[in-house]
Amino acid sequence: MNAMLDFFHPMLDLEYIQSLPYITPYTDRRTVLILGGCSGLGWYTVLHLYLHGYVIYITGRSKSRVLKSIDELRQESINIRSNYTSQELNERYLGELLYLELDLSQLSSVLSAANKLINTERNLNILINNLSTNFIPYMKTQDGFEIQLQLNYISPFLLIIKLLPLLENTTNYYPEIEPPKIIYTSSPSHYFFFSYFSMDEDFKYKPIFFFNWIRYGKAKISGIHLIKMLSLRNPKILSTIVDPGFVMNPTIFSYFTRLPIIGILFWCLFEIFGYFFGSTMEEGSFSVIKNCLDPDLTFDDNGKIFDTNGKEVKGSRVANNMDYAARTWIWTINKLNEKNIHIPN
Ligand SMILES: NC(=O)c1ccc[n+]([C@@H]2O[C@H](COP(=O)([O-])OP(=O)(O)OC[C@H]3O[C@@H](n4cnc5c(N)ncnc54)[C@H](OP(=O)(O)O)[C@@H]3O)[C@@H](O)[C@H]2O)c1
Repeated sequence: MNAMLDFFHPMLDLEYIQSLPYITPYTDRRTVLILGGCSGLGWYTVLHLYLHGYVIYITGRSKSRVLKSIDELRQESINIRSNYTSQELNERYLGELLYLELDLSQLSSVLSAANKLINTERNLNILINNLSTNFIPYMKTQDGFEIQLQLNYISPFLLIIKLLPLLENTTNYYPEIEPPKIIYTSSPSHYFFFSYFSMDEDFKYKPIFFFNWIRYGKAKISGIHLIKMLSLRNPKILSTIVDPGFVMNPTIFSYFTRLPIIGILFWCLFEIFGYFFGSTMEEGSFSVIKNCLDPDLTFDDNGKIFDTNGKEVKGSRVANNMDYAARTWIWTINKLNEKNIHIPN
């Protein structure tokens, strides 16, 4: 019951966030790559990491959209820092905000973004997969995958695999600092699955709005499987999952609220549910920020799922089944092989 109440009453403990360690970027360069960092939860995650001195690559399809977001983040940081004491100003440095071109609907774009980062940085401290697809209707990408699966799972899978050496370099070069981290934002939608499904099943059924949600859930459960597998296969990296709960981000529900007639019903439903149980976007980012900065997180936490308050939760039975996770992994490697992208098994 308490866990249920926590889930529905998210907190945003700004004092706690401010108490977490600050980095001096001039002497200690710590790098972050975030997918989906220029809106929603991602925007607030970037804001707090930037205030903590991290060098952050924000990926995006549109350079102008990311640069606009960077301007807003800089302005908001100035506002926040105007309330710092002079001692805080002397001890807390701003990091750096950088744009990295990446369209996750194209595997070729994933490969070139990974290469660009590998050629620019010596190591990577944190990789955050915070991408959202807003329940887009069924379609195939030019790589031939169902779009929500590619954006939320297949492309992040490929990017993570390509960047594993860069993440592992953090442990190799700086064994004395906290471990490199991979953080995957999941969703309560992963609970839709009570049994395992064939990865080739695209759920192209009607009603469309319902199966859009199911496809989103399938992509998110595949993402959890990925993290579970990484936590076993790559013990030099701390891989965790965050389920932000129900966040009142208008864009994520726009597919449903724009539907003719029934859209009004959805709008009322989301507003009422959100009023009582929803969290703001900044509250929704709390657990991701905690996973990034909390020095108490250790390799004992590898593969764990954390709720919106940063507390460990179990996740669904299908998400936790390692046989299923291995099947999802092998399916993905085979599919990428078919595209001439070879990943060691
Ligand atoms: N909001 C919720 O209630 C909720 C609940 C549970 C879990 N989550 C999860 O929390 C995370 C953040 O959610 P959010 O609501 O904050 O997301 P959001 O504001 O909708 O952000 C989506 C981000 O994904 C990017 N994106 C979309 N398609 C892309 C593509 N083809 N290539 C590259 N980037 C692309 C967008 O970039 P562009 O600017 O290029 O469009 C945008 O920055 C997601 O993983 C979501 O599944 C959210």
